[in-house]
Amino acid sequence: MQINEISIGIIGGGNLGRSVAEGFLKAGIQASKIVVTRRKVHLLDDLQAKGVRIEKDNSKAVIGQDVIVLAVKPYQAAEILKELHPVMKPGQVLLSLMTGITLAQLNEMLPVGVLAFRVMPNTAVALQESMTLIAAPECEPAIQKMVEDLFETLGKVIFINEELMSAATVLGACGIAFALRFIRAAIQGGVEIGFGADVAQQIVAQTVKGASELILQTGHHPEQEIDKVTTPKGITISGLNEMEHQGFSSALIRGLLVSYNKVNNIK
Ligand SMILES: NC(=O)c1ccc[n+]([C@@H]2O[C@H](COP(=O)([O-])OP(=O)(O)OC[C@H]3O[C@@H](n4cnc5c(N)ncnc54)[C@H](OP(=O)(O)O)[C@@H]3O)[C@@H](O)[C@H]2O)c1
Repeated sequence: MQINEISIGIIGGGNLGRSVAEGFLKAGIQASKIVVTRRKVHLLDDLQAKGVRIEKDNSKAVIGQDVIVLAVKPYQAAEILKELHPVMKPGQVLLSLMTGITLAQLNEMLPVGVLAFRVMPNTAVALQESMTLIAAPECEPAIQKMVEDLFETLGKVIFINEELMSAATVLGACGIAFALRFIRAAIQGGVEIGFGADVAQQIVAQTVKGASELILQTGHHPEQEIDKVTTPKGITISGLNEMEHQGFSSALIRGLLVSYNKVNNIK
């Protein structure tokens, strides 16, 4: 199925759900193919203005859709899937963006023949720059390809085994916040050494983007690129080593582990 032929119902137009809708629009998917729900529908007026159908009633947003994107909080899954059970039909594909709800749990809540995937994007979906990790069920390759194609319009996609979903949540989804905290700290330092906050922000954001591109486009290990910047007895290595003495890498790894240990306890 071509991307433009897919009809998509997004249940839960919050931070992530609306970002996914915005990303699909930017990717050229027709607004008329997308419907988004939430209870406070007035908060979706901007999407409606772009031609997206907005619904308060989840059932209406699910009937007849090829793909249902479930983007509510994990604790709401059972109640909402119970509500949707009578209107879901075999052949529909449910993409769960919810943290911590397993494929087995989803399958228990879904009618037979509705195929569930777990999809873990990050908020960069809105800019089509997401890193999206997907755990697929056993299914026809064409269906898996359709899901891959759909999320490739929103950035990069990697299929993973489901047992890595918690790790994917931490590294990919929480990772946006971790990277942004680095950026914020660098801006604060930049102000202290002389830049106005606006200029410091531009410098840091573009520098981080450049560092990412160096890795993404060359496939080099980060240290290979760091070696190019660190002159013996130089300025960069002095700063880097001081950061490490203060626990820079260790703090990041420890933070990742704390998040990882917590992710499975979300109810
Ligand atoms: N944010 C991320 O970076 C990220 C990344 C990956 C995965 N996730 C997962 O994505 C899910 C959503 O996260 P989020 O950050 O987008 O949360 P959020 O901003 O709270 O969005 C959830 C939305 O669901 C709507 N909702 C609640 N009850 C509903 C109902 N009965 N019917 C229809 N809509 C309903 C809420 O709007 P109303 O109150 O107006 O109904 C709310 O806007 C979570 O399960 C999270 O684990 C998030």
